[in-house]
Amino acid sequence: MATASPEVADSQACCSSSVDSVAAMAAVVRSGLSRSPKQLPPWLFYDEAGSLLFEDITALPEYYLTRTERALLEKHAGEMIAAAAEGHRLKVAELGAGSADKTRTLLAAALARQGEVEYQPIDVSVTALELARERIEQELPGVFVSPQVADYTQGMEFEACDEDECRLVLSIGSSIGNFSRGEAEELLSRLGSALQPGDSLLLGVDLAPSQDGKSKSALIAAYDDAQGVTAQFNKNLLVRLNRELDADFDLQKFEHQIRWNEEHSRIEMHLNSLCEQAVHIGALQTTVSFAEGETIHTENSCKYRSGEVEEMLNAAGFEATRRWSDADGWFAVYLAKRL
Ligand code: AVI
Repeated sequence: MATASPEVADSQACCSSSVDSVAAMAAVVRSGLSRSPKQLPPWLFYDEAGSLLFEDITALPEYYLTRTERALLEKHAGEMIAAAAEGHRLKVAELGAGSADKTRTLLAAALARQGEVEYQPIDVSVTALELARERIEQELPGVFVSPQVADYTQGMEFEACDEDECRLVLSIGSSIGNFSRGEAEELLSRLGSALQPGDSLLLGVDLAPSQDGKSKSALIAAYDDAQGVTAQFNKNLLVRLNRELDADFDLQKFEHQIRWNEEHSRIEMHLNSLCEQAVHIGALQTTVSFAEGETIHTENSCKYRSGEVEEMLNAAGFEATRRWSDADGWFAVYLAKRL
């Protein structure tokens, strides 16, 4: 994974065991808070409370991403599966599957086509994977789930398919947007190397604002909702550092801040220090100083223009063969074939 300074470095790389995760957290917090500007990686959001808050975000009226992508999957699942399979039996894998909520539509379409489906959700969260397995096997008999607890950003390996089979890898939910452009290219290249010619990738991408389409204000509202759920999600990172690293962040002294970065075509999430202050982090035996208005940059969410996605896919050894988008052009799902 490329280090992406001054962007949020190692955006998604994390670890799967709790011992590793405390050590990894201590290391990234020490290094991220000693940088200028200060930054922390977004995987820190996803403790139990953060994962629940993210679920709440996906249902917010302002957060159009989840419902727009879901509508595309529901409307076009049959076409997506047929275009990926091209006469073969499909094996389906999913990167960062989480609860695999939107995946069921695609699995149902694959099931209707071929009677049985092997599904390999990959995620760092054992709990999310177990939940996904239980739900899917109950709701979709004929789908055989083999969960894989792994951090796919650190590498991917897939078993070889039989001659009459090919693999479809899902990267939905716009998670590609949380990587920097360089990291996204590297990730896609690694995926390309792990796949065989004829395999496919289904990629959900949130699109950049445009003059006649999505406005910047709609985009900003998606990350700065009226109910303050995203603010709570962002600040939960400080709650986590207080609890797990014995820090004394005062939540009243930081505010959730959203910026649109035109140059990098991305939403940035920050925690803005409302005053000059010093925060002690017990587990690191260190004190971190903040000036008034100084921020911790906690997340990037890149928004792509259409041609850029095809370019990135080509560079990684794929060809985008199909693209589905909503009528307003806010979100797109790409099917890309490994060349
Ligand atoms: C997980 N990811 C695609 C979300 C996004 O839109 O970048 C994370 C998120 N952060 C704030 N709201 C949602």
